[in-house]
Amino acid sequence: MRRLNVNFPFMIAPMVGISHVAFRELMRSYTPEAVEAIRFTEMLSTRKLPSERLHLTRELRVSEGERFFVPQLLGNEEQFIGPSIKKLTPLSPWGFDINMGCPQSHVLRHNWGVRLMGDAAYAADVVRMAKRHTDRPVSVKLRGGADKDVDKNYLLHFTAALEDAGADWLTIHARPRAAKHEGPANWDVVGEVALARKIPVVANGDIQTSEDAMRIVRDYGCAGAMIARAATARPWILWQIAEDMGIENAPPGREGERAPRTPSEEGREYHRAFLNLIDLVERYFGEGDGVEEYGIQKLRFYAATGSKWFMFGHSFWKVTMKAKTFDQMRAGVAEYSERFPQDMYQRIN
Ligand SMILES: Cc1cc2nc3c(=O)[nH]c(=O)nc-3n(C[C@H](O)[C@H](O)[C@H](O)COP(=O)(O)O)c2cc1C
Repeated sequence: MRRLNVNFPFMIAPMVGISHVAFRELMRSYTPEAVEAIRFTEMLSTRKLPSERLHLTRELRVSEGERFFVPQLLGNEEQFIGPSIKKLTPLSPWGFDINMGCPQSHVLRHNWGVRLMGDAAYAADVVRMAKRHTDRPVSVKLRGGADKDVDKNYLLHFTAALEDAGADWLTIHARPRAAKHEGPANWDVVGEVALARKIPVVANGDIQTSEDAMRIVRDYGCAGAMIARAATARPWILWQIAEDMGIENAPPGREGERAPRTPSEEGREYHRAFLNLIDLVERYFGEGDGVEEYGIQKLRFYAATGSKWFMFGHSFWKVTMKAKTFDQMRAGVAEYSERFPQDMYQRIN
């Protein structure tokens, strides 16, 4: 098995509406400094990217000196992929990823996303297109199956085509297209594909705890693990994993502390993290018309995704729905956390 070219094989997934710069900075604030954890942007349309202005488009913002971020591209035509890569290269991304997993209808209509899994030769060409425009790693995030079931034989054929085309590494979301984000993920199949490929293969899907992430690498033979929804509930998960790997450094500002572990420690940390995220959203999106509304929407969506890991998560989410300004959101969350200390579940269905 080949390894990823970073010192830490655990990473944070692309999530539309969530993986913005403020969220990536929240994740970074919980990561020990020497740890090279890749964080994806949300998927970005290559039809739009060439005409975007980097400092104006909120989805394209990065933090000062941000490293290890990977923009995820949605598209299938070189005339758009080339200029999109050119536009993003000055931001110094660690690499570029191509989305071959999104099942949404507006994406399928253009033959992007998981539709590309229906034609291995064409998908391989899309990798070649991207490779022609960058010397940074080009990866693909795909699904366990193009249709209803996870299909090992097809996956082996499809990933071989991507490897031959020069893909530097792959992430497999171990659910078929029809399952969207629901139901169990098939880590066994990802492990089998990882064994067959020369390039690193990372597993994604239903990785909720540090133990899950460690098992993916230890027991399933994958090159790494990518976490999506659980990172919105447990943004300190990379800190937990680092500790479990024996890395003793705490994240900056948390020196001498251990990562939250018990249900009540994690419950308390969730509120603290949420307050930090409000500050980060205000810092990165705090200028221009309609910005507060934009930021509030992002915070609500983050709460809707992550609060499922908490017994009273629904009432927490309602607090975020009521707030119309950042200050109202801060006051609501602070009051809620005083009155309803809440325990966190390890895993949810
Ligand atoms: C709100 C949301 C937005 C997502 N957006 C993207 C995206 O932009 N690109 C992508 O490849 N996958 C996207 N996904 C899929 C996740 O990256 C991931 O593959 C999926 O949630 C399974 O991982 P999990 O079980 O850890 O959540 C999204 C998932 C969610 C919940």
